Amino acid sequence: MLLSLLAYLPVAFALVRADAPTVILDKATVIGTTNDSVTSFFGIPYAEPPVNNLRLRLPKPITAYQGTINATVPAVQCIQLVPPLRSDLPTEILEDLIAYITEIPATTATPQSEDCKPIIFVNMNYRLGPFAFLGGKEIKEAGVGNLGLHDQRLALKWIHQHISAFGGDPKKVVRASSRTGL
Ligand SMILES: *[C@@H]1O[C@H](CO)[C@@H](O)[C@H](O)[C@H]1NC(C)=O
Ligand SMILES: *[C@@H]1O[C@H](CO)[C@@H](O)[C@H](O)[C@H]1NC(C)=O
Repeated sequence: MLLSLLAYLPVAFALVRADAPTVILDKATVIGTTNDSVTSFFGIPYAEPPVNNLRLRLPKPITAYQGTINATVPAVQCIQLVPPLRSDLPTEILEDLIAYITEIPATTATPQSEDCKPIIFVNMNYRLGPFAFLGGKEIKEAGVGNLGLHDQRLALKWIHQHISAFGGDPKKVVRASSRTGL
């Protein structure tokens, strides 16, 4: 579905390799990359960068994409603190945690069966830690609590609005997450 859609889209820029996958979002050409059977569009912004006057504010949607978006390399992750495991936990809990953590890569290596239908996987970056989840009276009064959840909601709206450009169906969205509150 995705490939047949892309076949009709013009490749507008001479710099783009003839076989580079592209998608049109509003007036913008988004350039992706293909690796074997997987076509990826990395780092498409769903909101204005939350810096300067937009830091600690509700996410501001992008009103209209323009120009060229180079989506060939993964975006930078939002800043986060990864707490180290506490060494004072009882041994059996530590062992459970380590077993759990080391199991994660194995689950992604499950082979796909031949009759699997293709899916579109959308992964969102959202603000974390003090950039997203400050507490207190002032934060509440300013209406800027839980910014990370506001980011997630805006990303879900983005999917609803734009996924058809990638060959997706906005009515068939399944959410999955690990420890993100979705
Ligand atoms: C392409 O995909 C393979 C796994 O299928 C991965 O090992 C490799 O790093 C990917 N290459 C790039 C450039 O992302
Ligand atoms: C996209 O950005 C990457 C990394 O900066 C660069 O290597 C690549 O040439 C760019 N592609 C296009 C089409 O501009």
